[in-house]
Amino acid sequence: MIYAAILGHGVVGSGVAEILINEHKRISDKVKDDIEVKYILDLRDFDDLPYSDKFTKDFNVILQDEDVKIVAEAMGGVNPAYDFVKKCLNAGKSVVTSNKELVAAKGAELLSIAKEKNVNFLFEASVGGGIPVLRPMSQCLAANEITEVKGILNGTTNYILNKMIVDNMPFDEALKLAQDNGYAEKDPTADIEGHDACRKICILASLGFGKHVYPEQVKTEGITDISLDDVEYADNFNCVIKLIGTATKLADGKISAHVRPTLVSRDHILSGVHGVFNAVVVTGDETDDVMFYGKGAGKFPTASAVVADIIDCAKHLNSRKYVFWEDGDSDYVVTPDLKTRLYVYAKSNDYDALIETSALAFPDHDGIIKNRYKSEIAFLTDEDTESSLREKIASIKADKVKIMHTLF
Ligand code: HSE
Repeated sequence: MIYAAILGHGVVGSGVAEILINEHKRISDKVKDDIEVKYILDLRDFDDLPYSDKFTKDFNVILQDEDVKIVAEAMGGVNPAYDFVKKCLNAGKSVVTSNKELVAAKGAELLSIAKEKNVNFLFEASVGGGIPVLRPMSQCLAANEITEVKGILNGTTNYILNKMIVDNMPFDEALKLAQDNGYAEKDPTADIEGHDACRKICILASLGFGKHVYPEQVKTEGITDISLDDVEYADNFNCVIKLIGTATKLADGKISAHVRPTLVSRDHILSGVHGVFNAVVVTGDETDDVMFYGKGAGKFPTASAVVADIIDCAKHLNSRKYVFWEDGDSDYVVTPDLKTRLYVYAKSNDYDALIETSALAFPDHDGIIKNRYKSEIAFLTDEDTESSLREKIASIKADKVKIMHTLF
C-alpha cells in the first residue's frame, strides 16, 4: 500500500481525488501496488462527499505521518504552497504539483531539495494542463540541444482572441463569455495580462535550457490593448493575433524570453490552435520542430497529469526521476536587439500627412492598408533591428500622428 495526500480540494485537487478514488483499480494496476488517498487538506467542509472522512484542516497531520510517501499540491499560489511543499520534500516525501506560480518562482530551490533528499518533485500539470510536454521534453527529446520553446500557453486568452477573430466580438464581451463558460477566473488579470503564460514559458525554458528563468526576467505583455481593428488589419496581412510565449537560446548561451501578442501567419501551425486549446512547439537540433497540442486547462485534463505524476512517483519511490535545473542568475536572460518586422497601426487628423510621413519613415513597408474614411493606416515594416524600427516609428509620431498599436 502506498499512501498519498492531496493539498487543496478546488477544481484540480477534487479532480485528483476523484480519479484516484473512483479509478482506484485502474491506477493501482498500473503501479502494481495499491495507491490510497489518506488525507485531503482543505479549510472548507465537504461533509456530503463519499470520501469526507479523509479531510483534515491540519497540514501537520500529513507532514508528520510517515506512511504518506506522496503529496499532491493543488492549492495554487506561492504561499502557503511553497512552505508546505518544502516541508514535505525535507521530510522525505515526493511531491507533485499543478502550481505553475510556485514552480516558476521556486522550481530550482525545490528541485535541489528533492535531489538532496532523494525524492521526486514533478509538475507535468503546471504547463499545458493535460498535455504531456515536460516529460517528453526531458526524456524523449533528451538527445537534442533544445534551441527554442514557444507556444500558446494560456487557454483563456486564446479563447478570447479566437472570439474576436472568428465572431468579431469585442474584447470585453469575449472576456465575459470566457468567465461565464468557466475558462477565465473571476479576477482574470493573470490570464489577460500574460502572467500565467509567463510562468509557463519560465518553466519550459528552465527545463529546456537547464537554468532557472524567473518571471520577472521575462518581458510580458497581455492582450487587453488588442482591438477589433488590429484583428481586422492582421487578417488583411493573412495573419491572426495570438498570445505567444517564446524562449530562445542565443549563440552565447544566454536566453531571450518574452510573452506578447504576435501576428502569426495563417500558414503557421500555431494559427490553427483555437479556443481554449494550447500548443507548445519545441525545437531541437536533431528533431527540428515538435508540437504538443491539447487542452491546457480544466479539471480532469489537469488532474490527469497530476495523477500521472503520482503514478510515476509511486513507481520510483526509491529512485529519482531525472528532472532538474540549476538556479539562474540576473544576467542569464537578455534582450538582444534582433532583426524583426513590426505591425504598425496609425491614425491622424491629417490623412495626407500620415501617408507622407509613414512613407518617409518606411519607404519599403509591405502592403500598406489605407483607410481615408477613418484617416488611418496599417502596415508591416520591412525587416530591421527592433531599435531601428522603433526609432522610425517615433519619427512618424513626431508629426502629429497617433500610433494606435505596434505588434510583433
Ligand atoms: N487560466 C489558465 C488558462 C488555466 O486559461 O490557460 C491553467 O493554467
